[in-house]
Amino acid sequence: MLFPLTPLVLLASFAAFPASAVKDAHRRASGFDSVAQHIDVTGAHKYVPPGPHDMRGPCPGLNALANHNFIPHDGIVTLENSIAASMTVFAMSPVVATAAGLLGALYAGKLADLSFSYSIGGPPPFGLIGGLLGALGPPQGLSYTHNQFEADASPTRGDFFQFDINGYDLQMPAFVGLYHRQGESPTANYNRDIMFAHRVQRIRDCKQQNPRCFLGPLQMVFSSLTNCLVYAMMSNHSTENPDGILSNDVLKSFYGITRPTGAFVYHRGAERIPDDWYRRPLDAPYSALDLIDDLASMAVRYPETVLFGGNTNGPNTFAPLDVGAFSNGVYSAASLLEGNNAACFLLQATQLLLPLGLVGLEGIVLELLDRVIGALGDILAVVTCPELARVDSSMLEQYPGYRDSVHSG
Ligand code: HEM
Ligand SMILES: *[C@@H]1O[C@H](CO)[C@@H](O)[C@H](O)[C@H]1NC(C)=O
Repeated sequence: MLFPLTPLVLLASFAAFPASAVKDAHRRASGFDSVAQHIDVTGAHKYVPPGPHDMRGPCPGLNALANHNFIPHDGIVTLENSIAASMTVFAMSPVVATAAGLLGALYAGKLADLSFSYSIGGPPPFGLIGGLLGALGPPQGLSYTHNQFEADASPTRGDFFQFDINGYDLQMPAFVGLYHRQGESPTANYNRDIMFAHRVQRIRDCKQQNPRCFLGPLQMVFSSLTNCLVYAMMSNHSTENPDGILSNDVLKSFYGITRPTGAFVYHRGAERIPDDWYRRPLDAPYSALDLIDDLASMAVRYPETVLFGGNTNGPNTFAPLDVGAFSNGVYSAASLLEGNNAACFLLQATQLLLPLGLVGLEGIVLELLDRVIGALGDILAVVTCPELARVDSSMLEQYPGYRDSVHSG
């Protein structure tokens, strides 16, 4: 669905980041380059904590980028700026960064403005129509995109309905749960294995503690992705460890955590890029194929990560979604564990579920939606998937967590 009045500004930002999906394959670091990979956090990019009017929200990556002035310090970012900074500072691939940025703009953006600015935190003082949620009221910012982009079972953020509609702050038990997987070991490394295990625990936390826990395909893909971003984006690289190590101190810094007297203290919005930190090599960015491989491997190792559903009547009332019926027989619980099927299903179902919130919206919102669906398609373009033409979204209505966030406007 492409509209004749395609905004030129949007197209220009895409021309700058050609989504060469076929090339967005996994590449191993070709080596370590201490000059190219070093992120200078002095001078213009020195750490400045947020002031009272600066927006900060659920994403530690964007919060850190704002605190170091890689994106505007006030936390109101343009689509293009958020994509560019994610690529250059963290080495997210263009395809992955574009998909993330577009989702941010779609859900939280100020759509009346062709730069597609969005707040990385709470509702911005735009006073103009914005975002999918904003189109139904004032623009909300990333902090209030619950069950759209912000989802249950995040690595450290609380579940929306469990913490009085606060899905954006770090909740200490979740962080401490992660930290205790490595403790004070000098060789601590929050790598893929550790993050996969933490992911499963957070899914269990959701089912056991959040009365309205909801884990649909769209929610699962975002919380799985952000879980993987912890090790994929925050790790420090070196000659000895070209694939990166995520130590205790680096983890704490990126999460705004200090430990002055033994107890952990969370400083909201104070996520910080450590001094002397070396990101992934730009020739081995976190790519579509890395993401697909992570999603598929996670599913094989922990089938719970593709057991969709939600609580139906309070904690511990998780009712699984029948994937066979939901996907019209294209997938089954068993087939999700084969090949890249888990990643295929997650991303395809997300594409199909996206238009749901769109009743009554038109023009530029649909244009942006079309871009988002295309960006998810660019991620999928690196693999071959079974064809999924439709999903039975009415099956999601059995879950209060779904109903209460999708139908509340
Ligand atoms: C345009 C770019 C980006 C957008 C729009 C974005 C948006 C978001 C949103 C909405 C969440 C909350 C998701 C949830 O509740 O599950 C999130 C979480 C997260 N993001 Fe980002 N993000 C972007 C780039 C980045 C980058 C560059 C990093 C690099 C470190 C990053 C790392 C993370 C992590 C680790 C989480 C999980 C937080 C936690 O629960 O512990 N993101 N992001
Ligand atoms: C990153 O690794 C290098 C090499 O081991 C080290 O000198 C540097 O201090 C590390 N950076 C951080 C923030 O831990």
